[in-house]
Amino acid sequence: MLELSALTVRYGLVEAVNGVSLTVAEGETVALLGANGAGKTTLLRAISGLVKLVDGTITMAGDDLAGVAVEKRVRRGLVHVPERRRIFGGLTVEENLAVAASAWRRFGQPIENDLEKVYAFLPRLAERRSQRGWSLSGGEQQMLAIGRALMARPKVLLLDEPSLGLAPAIADEVFGRIRAIAAEGVTVLVVEQNTVLALSTAARGYVLENGCIALEGESQALLKDPKVREAYLGGAAA
Ligand SMILES: Nc1ncnc2c1ncn2[C@@H]1O[C@H](COP(=O)(O)OP(=O)(O)OP(=O)(O)O)[C@@H](O)[C@H]1O
Ligand SMILES: [Mg+2]
Repeated sequence: MLELSALTVRYGLVEAVNGVSLTVAEGETVALLGANGAGKTTLLRAISGLVKLVDGTITMAGDDLAGVAVEKRVRRGLVHVPERRRIFGGLTVEENLAVAASAWRRFGQPIENDLEKVYAFLPRLAERRSQRGWSLSGGEQQMLAIGRALMARPKVLLLDEPSLGLAPAIADEVFGRIRAIAAEGVTVLVVEQNTVLALSTAARGYVLENGCIALEGESQALLKDPKVREAYLGGAAA
């Protein structure tokens, strides 16, 4: 569904992503792990077209995305939930969701069905549909960010650190919702610092180090890998 081949991205002289190849099969959930500054966000931004590639190719369902504008990628179902949520604080939950439907809404098509679907998936949002974005808790804001992505009818969902800043129980709840979305057939690439949570949700994972893929494999194998344990799980023995 998503295939990156020898992707390189630079910011001036900083090589943020260096020759990364990665695949996500249709309906699969894949985790992208790595320390701060490893290039995870840059990789997601490259996939959604927010940063230019120096080299490499990205294809979605076999179509090369080179030269395809960000909005067109969204319209094709490639939807990005950015780091730190970026919801509209001054708008209500429902207004935030309505704005996000613009990816596909044309000629005044009604959005009620999409709203009800999102509320069914994310019941916390239904309870707070008239509440303003700024007044939501961190977990609710993350749910709203995911709900907005769902309003764009995603085929491929890119999630950047959905558990950032959330208490463990809330992070679990958010990942539970991500699993429910994946179970509907949505392809998911999730960047996450919470290695255990990410690998218990994803089938496979990649570890990014200084812009390069240092390790990849099935989640269960990665969780047992001494290098992963040392770097991301406090070195505890398997
Ligand atoms: N707009 C920018 N201009 C210049 N350098 C940047 C820019 N954005 C990121 N970088 C650099 O690129 C590298 C990769 O950053 P990136 O944000 O992709 O890492 P990350 O893995 O998402 O880190 P984190 O876990 O902290 O979110 C870092 O060295 C960072 O300083
Ligand atoms: Mg990041």
